[in-house]
Amino acid sequence: MSLGQGVADERVGGAHPFVANDQRLAWAAAAAARGMTTAARHALVAELDAAVAEVDGTGFVTTPFGRSDALSDALGFSAEGGVWVKDETGAGGGSQKARHLFSILLHLRSLELLGELPERPPLAIASCGNAALAAATLARAAEWPIDVYVPTWMSDGFGERLDDLAATVHRCERRADDPPGDPAMLRFREAVEAGAVPFTVQGPENGLCLDGGRTIGWELGDQIAASDGPHRLDAVFVQVGGGAFAACLAAGLVQAADSGPLATLPRVMAVQAEGCAPLALAWERGADATSDWSEVMTPWENPTSLADGILDDETYDWIGVLEGVRATGGDVVVAAESHIVRAHQLAHDAGFDASPTGTASLAGLLEALEAEDAQVGSESKVAVVVSGVTR
Ligand SMILES: Cc1ncc(COP(=O)(O)O)c(C=O)c1O
Repeated sequence: MSLGQGVADERVGGAHPFVANDQRLAWAAAAAARGMTTAARHALVAELDAAVAEVDGTGFVTTPFGRSDALSDALGFSAEGGVWVKDETGAGGGSQKARHLFSILLHLRSLELLGELPERPPLAIASCGNAALAAATLARAAEWPIDVYVPTWMSDGFGERLDDLAATVHRCERRADDPPGDPAMLRFREAVEAGAVPFTVQGPENGLCLDGGRTIGWELGDQIAASDGPHRLDAVFVQVGGGAFAACLAAGLVQAADSGPLATLPRVMAVQAEGCAPLALAWERGADATSDWSEVMTPWENPTSLADGILDDETYDWIGVLEGVRATGGDVVVAAESHIVRAHQLAHDAGFDASPTGTASLAGLLEALEAEDAQVGSESKVAVVVSGVTR
């Protein structure tokens, strides 16, 4: 795990995020409606968590949150303001992706325990980054078969990590009769058609991934309001690829303000790289839940950035992200590539061992500071979410 200077070098204690938020989670409500008791749900979370910890040495934890003095000083923040970091780099399964997948796994295991899933269908995911790693880790923990659909260009090293986790890896070449689109995604969809469970981090493929993803927002709400927290934040910057992460962060924060400890809602600033910014286009087009998808969310041609984990040509969860941005008075920020590069360096200098994807949120903050966003000045209290170590 990497922790920046100024962020306490210990895990925040307290209950497991999926136990603490049992009453808010959809998988738990579905299991309760089928007769699974609270104690049985807590036991299931503990059992799967211990199994994940056995595979990756971590399991689920409340990830650290604190003021980074190094980043605050480097960016000229005053002592009253500053840059807080929600550090997801040491999260269970290697990144925040496991939060999304854990609610799907809990749902499946609860169905099994309730006798409603006599046979295990295989899990399926199309990814060659943090999502694939988290999915294979969770599948291994549950001893559930998983098929991972990857592009032909995936590195052998990454393939070996998936092999070590006993995932069945399919390198997907484009076939002559394939329609346009990512061949790995096409093969994944065929597998789902044939009965596999979409074990994915994209809401439109499996809405249950948005259930557990909200733990990031609830957790952050608690940490902002905690006695040693900043009590309020002006803005939270979060990187957007497929969009599930930012959508869940925003939804969790809104709930933490509606019926939780948060007194004021920070603006959610959704960050994309200039080399792939379909969400920004949709935002400019005034997209909302009533919009025609194909008119507002057009696939980005030739996505490119050092932050290569957020090069999704479409922001699949754009509706949720834009709802969150609107509900919090936030914005969509397009970070210049130079800021993506600088943010990665700055974060490393401050002690955060994250990938350029994982530090792209900070690039959004650099952009806002350069643009002299009236609401992000040296007296402001802002947060960035720093996520996965790989991609
Ligand atoms: C490290 C990291 N941070 C953030 C994201 C963005 O998450 P989402 O695709 O849900 O927008 C990703 C996605 O791959 C990622 O790997």
